[in-house]
Amino acid sequence: MSKEYRIAVVGATGAVGVEMLRVMERRNFPVSKLKLLASPRSAGTTLKFRDDEIMVEPLGVNSFEDIDVALFSAGGGISKEYAPIAVQSRAVVVDNSSAFRLQQDVPLVIPEINGGDIAAHKGIIANPNCTTAVALMALYPLHQKFRVKRVIASSYQAVSGAGARAIEELKSQVKTLAGGGAAKPEVFPHQIAFNVIPQVDSFLESGYTKEEMKLQEEGRRIMHHPNFRASVTCVRVPVYRAHSVAVTAEFESPVAAYEAREAISAFPGVRICDDTSSQSYPMPLEVAGQDDCFVGRIRADCALENGLSFWVCGDQLLKGAALNAVQIAEAL
Ligand code: A2P
Repeated sequence: MSKEYRIAVVGATGAVGVEMLRVMERRNFPVSKLKLLASPRSAGTTLKFRDDEIMVEPLGVNSFEDIDVALFSAGGGISKEYAPIAVQSRAVVVDNSSAFRLQQDVPLVIPEINGGDIAAHKGIIANPNCTTAVALMALYPLHQKFRVKRVIASSYQAVSGAGARAIEELKSQVKTLAGGGAAKPEVFPHQIAFNVIPQVDSFLESGYTKEEMKLQEEGRRIMHHPNFRASVTCVRVPVYRAHSVAVTAEFESPVAAYEAREAISAFPGVRICDDTSSQSYPMPLEVAGQDDCFVGRIRADCALENGLSFWVCGDQLLKGAALNAVQIAEAL
């Protein structure tokens, strides 16, 4: 009989936490015991897993004593404080926050790309940023063949990337505005309904936001490509679920559109949806809820030498978060 594991989900009531439960169900993850952890606000509520209603417990220093793998998705502050406690209790942590992603002794992993890095872990494995994960699923198969030098990209990020409260904010603003009322921004800095906001995360002195630097910083580690450069503009759009990224990439070798399609088609976890004659390209409404990322609008770039432009769309709660975390746990 194959072994089963004692799993904790930290942030189980959040947008990503709930998806982690669904992904483990769907993939028949071998769970012998599941502990759901959240803030004291949620303690005592229940969440369904398979046929059981499981009580949510408040996160505490003793939460990990009988746990093999802890999936964290409750924000960077909670990860910084509790991941080391979990490791001390001999649990392996898969962390969805940005707390450890750039720490040299913490592997940062997309299993299809650098699953081999998992073996070097010292108790914590980091899950990449959601936009980075979606973009790299399309970029890496191209990099393998044509060696990427740099990219210029813009993201179109769904509100669910900012958590469960952000989904509620878009819903309630749409309702309020349709009734003639005024929107009150709380999670986002401006009205998100019927708008786009060219800011995701806080600004750095350089003028970029923290989110915008993640493709370069995390991409270098995941692709083992220290000279990779990425200039990104991250934009929040009034979409509930699935991030899109418009990417223009420059490669060392020339790359034709058909060669790019071949390289992407042969890679696991990413699919081509690219037929301009039938106006077929990936869109969030169709991609939401799917494990794979989808690539379309592939064309030779008219402004760059050895350049290629394309559009990639992926469910950031799945490949960008919960699915990738569970895939790491499976690889463990
Ligand atoms: P809770 O629902 O009890 O607030 P999201 O990213 O969707 O906003 O979700 C964040 C997740 O992190 C939720 O499950 C939330 O639990 C959890 N969380 C927030 N603050 C804490 C905390 N202090 N301790 C434990 N879990 C927390």
